[in-house]
Amino acid sequence: MSAPRTGRIPYGGDYNPEQWPEPVWDEDHRLFTRAGIDTLTVGVFAWSLTQPAEHTYDFTVLDRILDRAAAEGRRVCLATGTAAVPPWLATAYPEVNHTDFEGRRHRYGQRHNFCPSSPAYRRFATALAGRLAERYARHPALLAWHVNNEYGGPCHCERCAGAFRGWLRERHGGLDALNDAWCTTFWSHRYTAWEQIEPPHALTEHWRGPDHTAFQGITLDWFRFTTDARLGCFTAEKEAIRAHDPATPVTTNLMGMFRPLDYHRWAPHLDFVSWDSYPPLDAPPTWPALVHDLMRGLKDGAPFWLMEQTPSTTACRDVNPVRRPGELRLASWQAVAHGADAVLYFQLRASRGACEKYHGAVIGHAGRDDTRVFREVASLGEELESLGRLTLGARTPARTALLFDWDSWWALEISDGPSRLVRYQDVVHAYYRAAREAGADVDVIPVAADLTPYDVVLAPVLHLVKDDLAARLEAVAARGGTVVTTFLSGRADLHDRAFLTDVPGPLAPLTGVRVDEWDARPADVVNPVLLDGVRVEARLVFEIVQPRGAEPVGLYQEDFYAGTPAVTRNRFGEGEGWYVATALDRTGVDRVVRRVLDRHGLTGPYAGHRDVETAHRVTPDGTTLLFLLNHGARAAHLTAHAPAADLLTGKRVERGDALPLGPRSVAVLRLQ
Ligand code: GLA
Ligand code: ZN
Repeated sequence: MSAPRTGRIPYGGDYNPEQWPEPVWDEDHRLFTRAGIDTLTVGVFAWSLTQPAEHTYDFTVLDRILDRAAAEGRRVCLATGTAAVPPWLATAYPEVNHTDFEGRRHRYGQRHNFCPSSPAYRRFATALAGRLAERYARHPALLAWHVNNEYGGPCHCERCAGAFRGWLRERHGGLDALNDAWCTTFWSHRYTAWEQIEPPHALTEHWRGPDHTAFQGITLDWFRFTTDARLGCFTAEKEAIRAHDPATPVTTNLMGMFRPLDYHRWAPHLDFVSWDSYPPLDAPPTWPALVHDLMRGLKDGAPFWLMEQTPSTTACRDVNPVRRPGELRLASWQAVAHGADAVLYFQLRASRGACEKYHGAVIGHAGRDDTRVFREVASLGEELESLGRLTLGARTPARTALLFDWDSWWALEISDGPSRLVRYQDVVHAYYRAAREAGADVDVIPVAADLTPYDVVLAPVLHLVKDDLAARLEAVAARGGTVVTTFLSGRADLHDRAFLTDVPGPLAPLTGVRVDEWDARPADVVNPVLLDGVRVEARLVFEIVQPRGAEPVGLYQEDFYAGTPAVTRNRFGEGEGWYVATALDRTGVDRVVRRVLDRHGLTGPYAGHRDVETAHRVTPDGTTLLFLLNHGARAAHLTAHAPAADLLTGKRVERGDALPLGPRSVAVLRLQ
């Protein structure tokens, strides 16, 4: 099953009219019509209204919201509302309250506050989901199901500990296998009974926080268990919905690069992927682009929904800047360019009270339609509508893949040594950015994905190498492709046990190098690297590489390893295996990635324009769309590389024509 079928890009977002008087709803709908809003996400935090007491359900408000939406010709993405438990539930069944990393059972408060192993929570959540499905499965407004909201991380209660032990039994079979996987003879940890196993937290294996563990194997399994425990909540609700509604697509809003949950394990259970984009404040445009591509990669390139973004500001940060004129439009088109088949906001109208009253909204407290934000939202609505169904279902024709692996992320960041300063997302982003800025479309895919469609595979900080991955990477190179991997790759197996071979373990034949030593230095220490005759900077970790067949491409310039390779290239079959042994600066990563892309003719025609992002989508009828996004504050002066129709202006463009792109502006070209 895939995303709901619609006649245009669904446009709208979170709508909580239960928070204000009904006469205001008239105003809401009048403004929605003006803004081209056709999709409302409803009921995300409505549990205490829909079930005010254990044995009482009350759907009058939801009925009115959905009926009104239907009467107005709008569709609803209906939430099960189980992310914030009502007070009566937490009071009657204290077990639903989660227990934190310090082992403190929380009392009622906030949201995302439930224990995933609580039978009471599970029973009430699935009962509510079932009731909702029973009632609304055939409602004309229903477009999709939105289970829960932004599932979070672990709970450290006794019930979760028990569930963890059960999960371990299934995963490892016996205690011998578990002891072996976790290397428990280290520090006298050999377990002789399952009950002896404590989940890792502040009172057990951890000391400075979730990243500092004495046993990486235990903590890794705990992260995997947490993923499955939360996923179990999702699938239970989904089943309850399916009992009454076999057809409507079901999703939950993911959080992109959210470390606690391995979304690759979730993907098969989602009918379609949706996610909430709130990029870090200082993030370059390639950051949300990376996350879009990661989300698209969850289901083998299928389009996803942008379930939330703010139309103007967030509220949760210490300082919450407003999106500049044009930024919302640019970010929305960027999502579409990367595979979004819906553009939705949090939120359509501002809540009156509580912690999100200053969070940006399409309609503010005064209910005006003459604000800058409303105008930008409305004109984007018109623009998206003008495309009709053209982009829906369109795929990305990438020949470059970037491997993204939660196991490697976790293992790298919970490792003692060589450096806590190496952050998985930063290294992955550096390689992604280089490829994207060179104009390559990139699929961000799990390590288990089929690699045969790709000419170039980027595998930065591939710390854990599992299953037959090394052989599949070798196959990419053997048939003429190029694989790039980096420092701290090929270090450990599935259980984070070091390979009993030279580093980089199973990647050694492909890369043609051997690493015996590595040096880690504070962030301000630079070792220059001479790369293709250009001096670039390297930081954080310096692996000392001995070529075993590979040729040096870059050399360290300082310290006792001056003159030894920092970047190497190994001929392997018809192709190449590259090894980058240190954290190169942006110029360094750019040079490596450009050389690799050039080898395969994958550098784009607009690669010279650093602020201009390009992305392709191919529609189900075979039309190729090229999205051009100028993230710069100045106009970009491009020259068209192919004849095309500019879909937003209606103009024709011939090859060689001037193609000016204003500051923070967008063009959608139908290539001919
Ligand atoms: C998240 C939640 C929303 C809202 C927004 C505000 O994405 O899903 O309920 O809290 O953040 O930023
Ligand atoms: Zn728990």
